[in-house]
Amino acid sequence: PSAEAAELERTFIAIKPDGVQRGLISEIVSRFERKGYKLVAIKLVVPSKEFAEQHYYDLKERPFFNGLCEFLSSGPVLAMVWEGQGVIKYGRKLIGATDPQNSEPGTIRGDLAIIVGRNIIHGSDGLETAKNEINLWFKPEELVNYAHNSENWLY
Ligand code: PPS
Repeated sequence: PSAEAAELERTFIAIKPDGVQRGLISEIVSRFERKGYKLVAIKLVVPSKEFAEQHYYDLKERPFFNGLCEFLSSGPVLAMVWEGQGVIKYGRKLIGATDPQNSEPGTIRGDLAIIVGRNIIHGSDGLETAKNEINLWFKPEELVNYAHNSENWLY
C-alpha cells in the first residue's frame, strides 16, 4: 500500500449556514473522519455576498443564483479541505444527491435535510472545481501538512 498515492487528491467541503445553525458540524465532520479521509484545512467564516457569488460563479445564469448566494452569506460556513484517495467523487457520495428528496438514506443530505435550498453541505464536483474552490477559500499556508497516523492502516 502506498501512502504517497493517498496524499494527492483533495476536495473542498463546506457546511452551509443551515448545517452550522442546526448543530450538525460534528455529525458531518465525523462522517468524513470515520471514512478515513484526512482533514487538511478548516475554518469558520461568514462569506460576503460577493464572495458567495464568486464561489457559485458557474451558476450565475440559474434562477436560484441570487437566493443561493444570499443563503450562503447569511451566516457562518464551515469551510474545509479533505484529502484521500477518491475523495472528490466519494465525498459527493457521502453527501448524497443535490435535492434531499432524492438523496438516499445513509447519505448526509438523505439523513439530515429536506429541501434543495437548505441542503446543508457543499462538495466540489470535479478536480478542476476542487482546485479552484480550495484556492478561493484558503491561502496556501492554511493547508496544514502533517502525517495522518492512520494512513498506514487505510492504504
Ligand atoms: S444543477 O441544477 O444540476 O445545476 O444542480 P447542481 O449542479 O447539482 O447544483 C448546483 C448548486 O446549486 C444548488 N441548487 C439550488 N439551490 C437552490 N435552489 C435550487 N432549486 C437549486 N438547485 C440547485 C445546489 O445545491 C448546488 O449547490 P451546492 O452548494 O453545490 O450544493
